Amino acid sequence: MIRFAANLNILSVVDFQLRVITMKRALITGITGQDGAYLAKFLLKKGYQVFGTFRRTSTPNFWRLQEVEVFDQVNLIPADLIDSASIAEAITVAEPDEVYHLAAQSFVGASFEQPIGTGNVTGLGVTRVLEVIRLINKDIKFYQASTSELYGNGNAHPQREESSFMPQSPYSAAKLYGYWITRIYREAYDIFACNGVLFNHESPLRGLEFVTRKISNGVARIVIGMDKTLPLGNLKARRDWGYAPEYVESMWLMMQQDTPDDYVIATNEACTVQEFAEKAFEVAGLNWEKYVIVDKRFIRPLDVNYLQGDYSKAREKLGWEPKVKFDRLVEIMVKADIDRWNKWLHGERFPWDAPHYPAETRILTRSLRM
Ligand code: NAP
Ligand code: GDD
Repeated sequence: MIRFAANLNILSVVDFQLRVITMKRALITGITGQDGAYLAKFLLKKGYQVFGTFRRTSTPNFWRLQEVEVFDQVNLIPADLIDSASIAEAITVAEPDEVYHLAAQSFVGASFEQPIGTGNVTGLGVTRVLEVIRLINKDIKFYQASTSELYGNGNAHPQREESSFMPQSPYSAAKLYGYWITRIYREAYDIFACNGVLFNHESPLRGLEFVTRKISNGVARIVIGMDKTLPLGNLKARRDWGYAPEYVESMWLMMQQDTPDDYVIATNEACTVQEFAEKAFEVAGLNWEKYVIVDKRFIRPLDVNYLQGDYSKAREKLGWEPKVKFDRLVEIMVKADIDRWNKWLHGERFPWDAPHYPAETRILTRSLRM
């Protein structure tokens, strides 16, 4: 579809036509999350016009978009996954060519505390988005943020696209529903809908309750003398940990294929939580054994023991390959958190301490607001 670019400079007629024709529009649900921020940056670099949904919160939650320096380039639309009308509004306003559905209650631990809410948001939320696409414009392409948690404990490793699923949490049960409803809409309605079955991916933008960021932040607090111990849960769990900025590229690649399909995205290497802690303390010149304690409050009612992904299909069909591996990932995260705490000691705010809704916030709806 031909649309006018908002920020046209003086261009030749040919340049103008090319640019208008090629400028794609993407809608990212969950743009305020880790992947949302990196994907927004990636798509802007590719020349997309980027729209993203956010939830109204009592304290602004745009710090990741500010941290990756794209906040003033994205268009924000208020929407909640439990509110179908707001999703319809977002898709109507954004007129996207591609929808990247990343929004979810994404913390496995919290899904044991709020299983029904997680089912509603993380499971049914997928259908709400797909229904709006089916009713408004079936040409919109759809990416579903599926997860290695689907595999649970039922498989030999490494896990591949055809490995069987055995979810171990309300979160992964909800994601299993999301996975299948995506395939059902693909087959029943001929919608370009694909599942990225992504294994754990981390970064300095990761939420603080996830174990990798909890460790990197905990190490930093110990380094500056704020804490003396780091309480963790299951140290034996094994995960295939990759670097989030690389994983968002795979999402885009899946959407550029001739036919929609499902892909595992991983590094094919797995390490334990304990190994992550060992390496993180080592980066700071400390011995983990002096600081890590096991606190049963962080042990889940059920846990996934061993996730390791075989990404051969993504390598062959998408040309995707991870570059940042475990040691480098841990180093990036620990150094980033030590840097943040040192800056804080010198009077700087943390990136997430945004004081107010910045004046340049570009919030869009059909009914005028602000
Ligand atoms: P994240 O940082 O937790 O971000 C989740 C996003 O969803 C946030 O923007 C959040 O908004 C939004 N959200 C939560 N509840 C919502 C609701 N009711 N309505 C609208 N938006 C809502 O997660 P992430 O790490 O970026 O992961 C992105 C997606 O990939 C998630 O679906 C996750 O389950 C999936 N996934 C992640 C990994 C991983 O290792 N990171 C691996 C496999 C799959 P607020 O900022 O307002 O909370
Ligand atoms: N969060 C947390 N906190 N996890 C701990 C702790 C702790 O103190 N101690 C041990 N763990 C263990 C968990 O029990 C789990 O086995 C492992 O560390 C990883 O936990 P998380 O970092 O919370 O991630 P996750 O693997 O449960 O889920 C993440 O990855 C999935 C992909 O496999 C999330 O990003 C999900 O949204 C994603 O789908």
